[in-house]
Amino acid sequence: MSFPVQEVLTKPFEGQKPGTSGLRKRVKVFQQESIFDAIEAKGSTLVIGGDGRYFSPETVHTILKIGSANGVDRFIVGKDSILSTPAASNIIRKYKAYGGILLTASHNPGGPDNDFGIKYNVSNGGPAPESVTNKIYEKTKTIKKYKIINAPQVSLDTIGEFAYGPSKVSIIDSVVDYRILLESIFDFPLIKSFLTSHRDNYRVLFDGLHGVTGPYAHEILVSALGLTEKSVQNCIPLPDFGGGHPDPNLTYAHSLVEVVEREGIEFGAASDGDGDRNMIYGKGAFVTPSDSVAIIAHWADVIPYFKRQGGVKGLARSMPTSKAIDLVAKKKGLECFEVPTGWKFFGNLMDAGRLSICGEESFGTGSDHIREKDGLWAVIAWLNIIAAANAKSPNKLIGINDILQAHYETYGRSFFSRYDYEEVPSDGANALVAHLNDALQTGSLNNTARSSRSTSTKFTVSGLYDFEYTDPIDKSVSSNQGQVITFSDGSRVVFRLSGTGSQGATVRMYVERYVPPEAGPSELRRDAADGLKGLIEVALELSKLKAFLGREEPTVIT
Ligand code: G6P
Ligand code: ZN
Repeated sequence: MSFPVQEVLTKPFEGQKPGTSGLRKRVKVFQQESIFDAIEAKGSTLVIGGDGRYFSPETVHTILKIGSANGVDRFIVGKDSILSTPAASNIIRKYKAYGGILLTASHNPGGPDNDFGIKYNVSNGGPAPESVTNKIYEKTKTIKKYKIINAPQVSLDTIGEFAYGPSKVSIIDSVVDYRILLESIFDFPLIKSFLTSHRDNYRVLFDGLHGVTGPYAHEILVSALGLTEKSVQNCIPLPDFGGGHPDPNLTYAHSLVEVVEREGIEFGAASDGDGDRNMIYGKGAFVTPSDSVAIIAHWADVIPYFKRQGGVKGLARSMPTSKAIDLVAKKKGLECFEVPTGWKFFGNLMDAGRLSICGEESFGTGSDHIREKDGLWAVIAWLNIIAAANAKSPNKLIGINDILQAHYETYGRSFFSRYDYEEVPSDGANALVAHLNDALQTGSLNNTARSSRSTSTKFTVSGLYDFEYTDPIDKSVSSNQGQVITFSDGSRVVFRLSGTGSQGATVRMYVERYVPPEAGPSELRRDAADGLKGLIEVALELSKLKAFLGREEPTVIT
């Protein structure tokens, strides 16, 4: 059969600039034919997959036809168009592919009236750096035509390999490779023996939120670790995520929260639509992502992978993430990096061998085993830690809360919270940024002291700056990455515009207040909202946020 290459006329499209993590748009406005004009795909191997959301199979077919016309030699495609983001990163690295096209809008809702997304990852398995995404964006503004082969639809549901025009297509089940990966990282025999001997008093519940992680979680928790079917829920991926918002936080992962609360489940966890985020939430204990990465770094010695690597090389967090991990780095004498929001900023440090464990406040945690954050990796890291802690404590069962409190007693606690104001008018958001810029330039807020009305705690502004990052490896500079107000007691507040929304502007306000171990257990154990109340009041007042955005309350608090 011949597959003639056609040239199709097209036109430039507006608004195709990739954000923090690829391009995300409503399904109805999605256009993207320019990737192949910006990458050298000829003779290469490309990985294709995604979170299985609505419009994915159609897009896989389009990519196969355009990619083949552009000379791609081999496509490795996830069965049923599915590959979790971490699994895709692993496949790109393991099979030495040139890159990968990930069809995902992460945790954004899916379906005909919701979001679709395309993200391009490069050969290290990580999100394309800005030099590449800028090139793709430039092409979207000038594209006039594209090449496509005229080929019939192929079936994406059967594992195997076949010729496709001038190219080859391999349909794979990436769950197998992912299980091999995690088994090579964690102490599976230790975790399994702990879970088996505590079947009744240490129950586990993982919620896939109908995203892509379901089959991976089932394979690892049920098949490899021997848990029962009751330990996984909502693990069948659905194109609209069952109508839900597949984001693992206390607001959107209510299906998990409800069961954990009702049944007093000791260890609960959830992942997002494409499987790269995680939430750890067990009976009486919610682990903030900022604490989670610090705790994993503290316990890294019990994870065989890090031992094999000769120990942890360095730690990192995104700028708005709390400084809990910095304290672990200091104690262990490790380098610690502060990068802008976006996982892509960790890649260079990992490739240079200077970074092993990192995380973001946005429920992303991971390591240099791949170049994406990894939801299930974090969940199994926690189970590994719990199993190791219990191996040292024969008489008392150690749970999530014990690990948290012990950490606070050693390092102190960074109370942290994020307020999101979603889909606000862009004018208001820009006015807020301008107001803070003005304060930054004129120094008008410096040394201002404000007392919170409800707690009467006093906060004095010690500085205000706009975060800029120079990549230590390639020296590229990323400016305007968030405005930071610091206070004399070490607290800080960060304001940032989200780069992942698909509608209007989203303003994020991040607040952090550090309490040292000497403050004692009652202070360290306080509810986060309570511990941050005064600082939040002062931050809202100084920024005049409510007036600029016309909103009394945030849409989501994490
Ligand atoms: C995605 C990225 C993360 C980022 C998060 C929030 O999950 O992979 O690196 O932290 O979005 O980004 P935003 O720009 O919306 O705050
Ligand atoms: Zn995600």
